[in-house]
Amino acid sequence: MRQQRSELTESVQQAAGFDVLKQLKNYSAFQASHRVAAYLANDGEIPLSPTIAHLWHKNRKCYLPVLFGFGGRRMHFSHYHSKSHFSNNKYDIPEPVVPIKEQLKSNALDLVLMPLVAFDGIGNRLGMGGGYYDRSFEFLRFRSVWKKPRLIGVAYDFQQVDILQSDPWDVPVDAIVTPTRLIRF
Ligand SMILES: Nc1ncnc2c1ncn2[C@@H]1O[C@H](COP(=O)(O)OP(=O)(O)OP(=O)(O)O)[C@@H](O)[C@H]1O
Ligand SMILES: [Mg+2]
Repeated sequence: MRQQRSELTESVQQAAGFDVLKQLKNYSAFQASHRVAAYLANDGEIPLSPTIAHLWHKNRKCYLPVLFGFGGRRMHFSHYHSKSHFSNNKYDIPEPVVPIKEQLKSNALDLVLMPLVAFDGIGNRLGMGGGYYDRSFEFLRFRSVWKKPRLIGVAYDFQQVDILQSDPWDVPVDAIVTPTRLIRF
């Protein structure tokens, strides 16, 4: 799936980014969210630049994940705005430079747009294998009623598989957004 994704042309990827925003605009939970975590596309992931521009335009706040803790393999979330400065993390992914005291913890977000490699029909999600999202949102596994933040996986339709085997630490998503659909679980 990663290979298939990386073989898409630039114009197909750009179009997918706009189509994902179109789907999100019809999703009330997205429209009601003020603190939204996004990502900078890497490895052929669907670009969220149109969605980020939309959030800025609506005066809602956008955050990007930053690695945190020595070997802790967790993430904090740094405010991303038009004047952000960036520095690359160990995976060469740019992170906004924000003092640690001003970084948001994962439980302070309203909604999280997460990249993924594959998803199935009941909300299981396969990531890149680092466990960063699973660790950072582990508290959601112990909650049944109050579900915040809402986790939304962003993917191409071809990234869907029939059944993904899930492990006890995997945190399922609340919905998947593709260029053509919004699937709620
Ligand atoms: N809550 C957790 N506590 C401790 N270890 C964890 C936790 N969540 C995941 N891990 C570890 O992280 C490793 C990678 O997990 P997994 O293969 O599910 O990653 P992933 O879901 O693909 O990645 P990501 O969460 O970054 O998208 C696993 O070997 C697991 O042991
Ligand atoms: Mg996992």
